[in-house]
Amino acid sequence: MHSKNHNQSVRPKPAIETKLGQLFQMDCIPLMKSLEEGCVDLVFADPPFNLKKEYGPSSNDDKSEQEYLDWSHRWLTEAVRILKPGGSLFLYNIPKWNLQLGAWLSQYLTFRHWVAVDMKFSLPISGRLYPSHYSLLYFSKGKKPTRFSPPRVPIETCRHCGGEIPDYGGYKDRMNPEGVNITDVWRDLSPVRHFRYKRRKANELSIKMMDRVLDIASKEGDLVFDPFGGSGTTYITAELKGRKWIGSEIEDCMPIIERFKAIEGERAIWLSLRKKVNRLFSDEAMKLRQRNGKDNSKYRINGNGHNPLEKPLVLSAREKS
Ligand SMILES: C[S@@+](CC[C@H](N)C(=O)[O-])C[C@H]1O[C@@H](n2cnc3c(N)ncnc32)[C@H](O)[C@@H]1O
Repeated sequence: MHSKNHNQSVRPKPAIETKLGQLFQMDCIPLMKSLEEGCVDLVFADPPFNLKKEYGPSSNDDKSEQEYLDWSHRWLTEAVRILKPGGSLFLYNIPKWNLQLGAWLSQYLTFRHWVAVDMKFSLPISGRLYPSHYSLLYFSKGKKPTRFSPPRVPIETCRHCGGEIPDYGGYKDRMNPEGVNITDVWRDLSPVRHFRYKRRKANELSIKMMDRVLDIASKEGDLVFDPFGGSGTTYITAELKGRKWIGSEIEDCMPIIERFKAIEGERAIWLSLRKKVNRLFSDEAMKLRQRNGKDNSKYRINGNGHNPLEKPLVLSAREKS
């Protein structure tokens, strides 16, 4: 185990144990209680949203508002306790709950960001504005997080022609070749919807989102804790990125176990995502730009960095047509 034992006796045998992590099929609260104070570098939590979703026989996603908040305070109290000073906590939820849970968390942790995660395919609600984002709260324990290494992202481009969506005007030659600063609005995370990729009833998050969160707030060898396993996106991404991890899932853990068996497929997805991190343009965008005669010549660099645009791209005959 990655920490000194607190009250290890409550833990069952792990449902899965890998080189870097352990998943327990159990309620997250006793699992956290069994961990020592200050042993975790990063907590990421995507709890049930109390929207009457059927996760299985052991969970109840139809609590009264007060019950949901009380339960959230109970598990968050433990999450705060096991977090190291300087560690970070991310809480993914709908704005209605994160508004209240964020205010409550501010008593114990330092607020850093409310990240709006754009959600494209939600249903309109009569008498309300069209809900179009999830909230990802980001807190640190103590004034400053020990880790903070946000990745840079490519310029947002038109998916038809590769043209830049923001107008960088006369600043193109001063832009960092590693990409632009990441903002607190994440528009580039498509929900995992396709049957082939979606593994269970849990709302599976994308590897891209977890890759980003782990980049921001952890480094190799750190210990990541996610109390709500679902389909195991956090654990898979942690394993691929060389982070240690611990997790719990109160329902069936088979979808996570199966996913680990097929981790090489996940690695391929992750590696292709990594080609879009810390670059000014993704390969796809570059091909589109070349095909549509977009001018790349202004994108220069001031420092010593590598300019991906200096490498000429060779288009295949099919891509040229
Ligand atoms: C929204 S899903 C998490 C999805 C996950 N982030 C992913 O990407 O696949 C929430 C999960 O928490 C589990 N869960 C609910 N109550 C729990 C509890 N008390 N302890 C542990 N897991 C719980 C549910 O069964 C469900 O799989």
